[in-house]
Amino acid sequence: MSNLTNKRIVLGVCGSIAAYKSADLVRRLKEMGAEVRVVMTQSAGEFITALTLQTLSHNPVHQYLLDCDSESNMSHIELARWADIVLIAPCSANFMSKLAQGMADDLLSTVCLATRAPIVYVPAMNNVMWENKATRENVITLQKRGFVRFGPASGDQACGETGLGRMLEPVQISNQLIELFQPGLLQDKNIMITAGPTQEDIDPVRFISNRSSGKMGFAIAQAAREAGANVTLVCGPVKLTTPQGVNRLDVRTADEMKSVVMENINTTDIFISAAAVADYRPETVATKKIKKAASKLDLKLIRNPDILSLVTNEPVPPFTVGFAAETDNVRENALAKLNSKSLDMIAANEVGKEQGGFDSNENALSIYWQNGEQQLPMANKNTIARQLMTIITEKFREKSSANNALI
Ligand SMILES: Cc1cc2nc3c(=O)[nH]c(=O)nc-3n(C[C@H](O)[C@H](O)[C@H](O)COP(=O)(O)O)c2cc1C
Repeated sequence: MSNLTNKRIVLGVCGSIAAYKSADLVRRLKEMGAEVRVVMTQSAGEFITALTLQTLSHNPVHQYLLDCDSESNMSHIELARWADIVLIAPCSANFMSKLAQGMADDLLSTVCLATRAPIVYVPAMNNVMWENKATRENVITLQKRGFVRFGPASGDQACGETGLGRMLEPVQISNQLIELFQPGLLQDKNIMITAGPTQEDIDPVRFISNRSSGKMGFAIAQAAREAGANVTLVCGPVKLTTPQGVNRLDVRTADEMKSVVMENINTTDIFISAAAVADYRPETVATKKIKKAASKLDLKLIRNPDILSLVTNEPVPPFTVGFAAETDNVRENALAKLNSKSLDMIAANEVGKEQGGFDSNENALSIYWQNGEQQLPMANKNTIARQLMTIITEKFREKSSANNALI
């Protein structure tokens, strides 16, 4: 496993109950070979002592901005230049707000403003603070400015509540940090992912759609980006935040999705079809709202384009992964689709159950390819997406080397 040898990490610690985990985090980062300099906010000192973090990091802890000794020892500018990365864990709601506003009224915020190094923040707070509109807007601002966020996780909180806002565990933080430093296995590869439902108009106010939330496709886009790929996400109407660094193209109907996909397919190395594209659409779209005059209304539906088949029928198709959402006979239906559409891989999930599937934050997948299959048991969709991307990467590389051997 790769490590963090000689990586210079400024670890910012804020005033959160999760600050006790920073001690373990420092220990892990040191074990992986990193050099760590801790910068504490004043509030952090109420939760963990500088002595603990100094002992574990083998470096003096930095706490003060307007202080002669601190400035002559290692100034805020020297700290900002020294860092390969600034990691803020835990990052309080207050500190997120300061980052979003570009404030520089203490040592940590000033270092953040003065550094050219990437800044990773690891939120830790009560779930209501996390869901507060101000915090939501700060998340969007920080994302737009290129800050990297790890977590938060969901679960029991120190305040007695349950929900999203828990800081990730130190082991998860250090693993994600390693991935950030590693050039991904899909560096320079172009991946196109479709996500979400489509809407097929009946009249100006009504449409036919489905329950897809787009969460799985968005999680895959994030995992592909983490693996270093250039990611294009073609998505139907969803209420989700675009993963950082992902090129998002919004569409509404299956026909629009087909056009955008086919415009970009020639430069695509891997195509992942996670969208729930409507199979049918009304044959005609009424130009005016249909009145409820008649007791019965017949809608005539026609087939929508089959985007997956169009892609695999290209002269040089990309590595193509389909999804099958099935209510029964998952294996048979998935294998039939794998073969009939000449896919390289298919990810099947059973929908219509209480857990997993549409709109859930969790999912379980069965992955099939020619002569192979793998089960991904129920887990958070981000975890499932990373596992799926690992399998796709492996099979894509196998196919690429086999193709190269034939040339
Ligand atoms: C017991 C206790 C626990 C707290 N835990 C958190 C927390 O987990 N996350 C958070 O954002 N704020 C928490 N706060 C509030 C922050 O400490 C407070 O907003 C502080 O101003 C943050 O300062 P800083 O951002 O400069 O570190 C807590 C306060 C108390 C008294």
